[in-house]
Amino acid sequence: MNTIRYDFRSDTVTRPSAGMRQAMAEAEVGDDVFGDDPTVNRLEQRMAALLGKDAAIFVPSGTQSNLLALMSHCGRGDEFIAGQKAHLYVNEAGGAAVLGSIQPQPIAHQADGTMDLGEIEAAIKPDDNHYARTTVIALENTFGGKVLPVEYMLAVSEIARRHELGLHLDGARAFNACAALGTDIKSFTAPFDSVSICLSKGLGAPVGSVLIGRQDLIDTARRHRKMLGGGLRQSGILAAAGLYALEHNVARLAEDHARAKRLAEGLAGFDGLTVTAPDTNIVFVGMERGLEERFTAFLADKGVGITGSYGKQRWVTHLDVDDAAVDGALEAVRAFFG
Ligand SMILES: Cc1ncc(COP(=O)(O)O)c(C=O)c1O
Repeated sequence: MNTIRYDFRSDTVTRPSAGMRQAMAEAEVGDDVFGDDPTVNRLEQRMAALLGKDAAIFVPSGTQSNLLALMSHCGRGDEFIAGQKAHLYVNEAGGAAVLGSIQPQPIAHQADGTMDLGEIEAAIKPDDNHYARTTVIALENTFGGKVLPVEYMLAVSEIARRHELGLHLDGARAFNACAALGTDIKSFTAPFDSVSICLSKGLGAPVGSVLIGRQDLIDTARRHRKMLGGGLRQSGILAAAGLYALEHNVARLAEDHARAKRLAEGLAGFDGLTVTAPDTNIVFVGMERGLEERFTAFLADKGVGITGSYGKQRWVTHLDVDDAAVDGALEAVRAFFG
């Protein structure tokens, strides 16, 4: 395997900085299953306060956070509405169905990443014993690095309220969305009953997500977290990384977005590459079939790590990608196109 020098595969690949490691080493800890880890409690209280919601729960991953949200909104045999390409529908191993006995009702995405409001509403089942009970609608923002409009989230929220459904946000990269919109996380997440935010993506923590929301949902999530084996003990060591990330790594997300823009502009200069201008830190690059395999293999040989998604290359900027990495990657692309 080639050594990756410039790692654009994902913002999950970041390694904790010296400052973050020090905060982890110095964390005051207790037993979080007993509820007495002061650092975990501080992180949960801080996230709840930041979002202006009742409560929060620290969990090992975004996948578990989304699953806990769905299992807290829904009972056995209920149904959730989500986008056809939503992470919690496609990329979480069907956990809601397997572990929660919850059925997905996927809705196709439009070209701009939103779901058609009429289709969402039409998919909500009437109260009839032929049907699963529709209980919650789940949105994702950012979605593939794209910022979906606040007005769209508000319109879906209006549908949810009118039908007395819950509304969940997979906000794995919600802070990226806020940085791009220049808005604060509290107003961005205001329409939602529950919100999942990842600490281990753009924020640079090694582990962890937080589920934030209404008290009754978080209480139920705590019971389910125990059941799923997500009750950790001296997890203040991990929560300390999250607190450090909130303090040091939120304001700087704009730097990742600026680098993604510079990378996109550089890539767009090569004939044969079709580059989607990024809203945040993810750049998608399309190209002719046949070229992609050769190009990706060439880049790997030059130490440039990327991934593919839906027939396109996916380049992600993050804390461990600096200006020199963007220059180095563009140099490798130049070498390919000669
Ligand atoms: C939008 C979104 N939601 C949830 C997750 C799941 O997070 P984790 O990898 O921590 O389980 C991811 C991971 O990439 C994601 O991109």
